[in-house]
Amino acid sequence: MEIDLTKVKNIVFLTGAGISQESGIKTFRDQDGLWENHSIQEVACPKAYARDPNLVHRFYNLRRAQLHEVEPNPAHKAIGALSKCKNFNVSVITQNVDDLHERGGAKKVLHMHGELRRIRNNETGQTRYFEGQVPEEQFQIWRPDIVWFGEDIKCGDKIPELIGQADLFIAVGTSSQVYPAAGFVSMANFNQIPTVELNLEKTQMSQYYTTTFQGKASMLVPEFIQTYLGIKI
Ligand code: OAD
Repeated sequence: MEIDLTKVKNIVFLTGAGISQESGIKTFRDQDGLWENHSIQEVACPKAYARDPNLVHRFYNLRRAQLHEVEPNPAHKAIGALSKCKNFNVSVITQNVDDLHERGGAKKVLHMHGELRRIRNNETGQTRYFEGQVPEEQFQIWRPDIVWFGEDIKCGDKIPELIGQADLFIAVGTSSQVYPAAGFVSMANFNQIPTVELNLEKTQMSQYYTTTFQGKASMLVPEFIQTYLGIKI
């Protein structure tokens, strides 16, 4: 890679479903996009919740339960190890609703699409940590604290600032098909910082990155951190 990373301090990762794929969580666009014959869009939207909260809660109860069966993989752990290193200030903006970054040791994680392990009170808007199954009598009171199709992302005001202060932007395991996340590389380019894409395959945004590497996240992320940032993992 032709870029000088010796002066890098603030690192921002943008992660997507690809980073959790090797932990056993399905990605969005590599599957048939269906759950019990419903399209994901059909389940993950405010209209679906208004129409059939039972169906929507069942979907998220199952996904929340799946978190007990999955573990962070070497990609999450490598970012965690980097986060603990005093020379770097590492932030992770994730589109994922799992908690594998936190369990992998990352300190600053921004869940722009919400979190499976949080629920939100429909009346007050308050959120709280939650494990287990939302019981049926609570289906109208609490909703999953997930950003559904058509809703605003979380922390939308903090992200430009974070990328504005970054010295290096690294995207991992995202197809770059969903905005605003797909546009974060343009924000980084505007700030004239190096940008790196680590993904199984090229994406429609690959051309906008300073450099791209293709492969599995569990290999690419530790390799990149060791080779270019000099951290032993
Ligand atoms: P996608 O499913 O769109 O893309 C996953 C990307 O990861 C693809 O480009 C794959 O090639 C790549 N990939 C798969 N396995 C990989 C591996 N082991 N290592 C590295 N890369 C791998 O997922 P996202 O980009 O995260 O939003 O999708 C973005 C958003 O679309 C999601 O957060 C979700 C969905 O609509 C909401 O639910 C609001």
